[in-house]
Amino acid sequence: MALKLTSAIAAFLIAGFASTAFSADDPIKLRQETMKAIGGAVGSLVKMVKGETPFDAAAAQQALGTVATKAKGIDIASYFPAGSDKGKTEAKATIWSDPDGFKAALAKLQTVSAEQAKTAPQSVDDIKKALAAVGPACSNCHDTYREKKS
Ligand code: HEC
Repeated sequence: MALKLTSAIAAFLIAGFASTAFSADDPIKLRQETMKAIGGAVGSLVKMVKGETPFDAAAAQQALGTVATKAKGIDIASYFPAGSDKGKTEAKATIWSDPDGFKAALAKLQTVSAEQAKTAPQSVDDIKKALAAVGPACSNCHDTYREKKS
């Protein structure tokens, strides 16, 4: 029994490790999943602003926290390694030709989102303010470093 449990845990750990290794091997997937999570969190806030979902202070703060945590987790070296502009990606070559500008655009999102995640929004107006602060950091980067979808 004890042995069985141990091997089950080992199998779990190996599976976990393998999937981490896979993500690291696939930076395009890694950053797209991260951006999707950020986009999903922002989308849930937009829904509250539009009244499509009821205002929920805890959920709103959690969404802001997701944006901040995911943004903080973006490490340019592993999410945007040289050569990862090829393939199914909307990442523009400007990321690698202007690394300082890209770094600054990321830092801006990290700072702004961390600031906004500090306090729970008390109203839809507070969510609007948070989005007004975070939103420009998204477009600031996308405008220059992400291929526009046709
Ligand atoms: C530092 C630059 C930068 C910032 C800041 C940034 N993004 Fe992105 N985003 C990108 C890049 C580059 C891509 C394209 C990634 C790829 O296709 O490899 C992308 C892609 C996306 C995608 C598409 C993901 C997919 O399904 O492929 C969404 C959604 C997205 N971003 C949302 C956001 C939101 C919302 C914010 C702000 C809260 C934000 N991004 C801030 C650079 C940024």
